[in-house]
Amino acid sequence: MRTYQRAADLGDIKKAVKEALEVKANPYKWDTMGKNKTLLMVFFNSSLRTRLSTQKAGMNLGMNTIVLDVNAGAWKLETERGVIMDGDKPEHLLEAIPVMGSYCDLIGVRSFARFENKQFDYEEVILNQFIKYSGKPVFSMESATCHPLQAFADLITIEEFKEQERPKVVLTWAPHPRALPQAVPNSFADFMNVADVDFVITHPKGYELAPEFVGNARVEYDQRKAFEGANFIYAKNWSAYADPNYGKILCEDRSWTVDTEKMSLTDNAFFMHCLPVRRNMIVTDDVIESPRSIVIPEAANRVVSAQTVIKRMLESL
Ligand code: CP
Repeated sequence: MRTYQRAADLGDIKKAVKEALEVKANPYKWDTMGKNKTLLMVFFNSSLRTRLSTQKAGMNLGMNTIVLDVNAGAWKLETERGVIMDGDKPEHLLEAIPVMGSYCDLIGVRSFARFENKQFDYEEVILNQFIKYSGKPVFSMESATCHPLQAFADLITIEEFKEQERPKVVLTWAPHPRALPQAVPNSFADFMNVADVDFVITHPKGYELAPEFVGNARVEYDQRKAFEGANFIYAKNWSAYADPNYGKILCEDRSWTVDTEKMSLTDNAFFMHCLPVRRNMIVTDDVIESPRSIVIPEAANRVVSAQTVIKRMLESL
């Protein structure tokens, strides 16, 4: 595997989950696979889980890991071609990327949507420049439109916790004070569309996700109706995708917050969220602290998803 952005990059998803569960059961089985290999993790944005879990995954495989926070200690990077560089950015990404590539064997990149230009975001310009110019396998650690390490961990978690052959999984929009990218819901939908689940997305009108990610999901605008009989509730905020409101907040309706009363409409559903989560905006304290909240094992599975992806990339070197 040379790149990792979408569920399809994993091939047969059942095999990928099976492999991930093998990795989880025996995380040090491949601890010499990455000997003398270097994983470079490049962060243009903040992170807790991705930074720690991906580094741990690389170490479990015997890799050396380097973390670069572009905004903390590195030269400020220009990303646009054609710019006269007389401002505060002394280095261009087009030199920086091959230099970074020369110091490592694999690269993970975190680069969020900027909401300045929808085409720039949805063409994944930054991630694709790494793919094109680094000369090394590249994986997304949450790029402008996708968060595939998160979604793979989410699917692994659903497989571990499910109590039905084909569970009903509901992705619900929830309110948030800041405009957030669509990367997490996009990737969650991408993975649920290839998983053996009954997949429903619920959000207020205006928050429709890109059709390429919605796929065959049922979209239900009535959140309470969507929750009926659900086995997993996956909460997340995102900003509008559709023009002319791309990247905007259209609604701050707190009635969309996931609370105990709404969870009572489900079939005793598990509660999931990628974290970090704003309590009592997205979800109430009661729900996230309930015995059916699986946000901590979900986060723990980030090591498993990252290790499985990095292992496959090492195998392809
Ligand atoms: N879920 C997730 O990606 O968390 P971080 O932003 O902390 O990495």
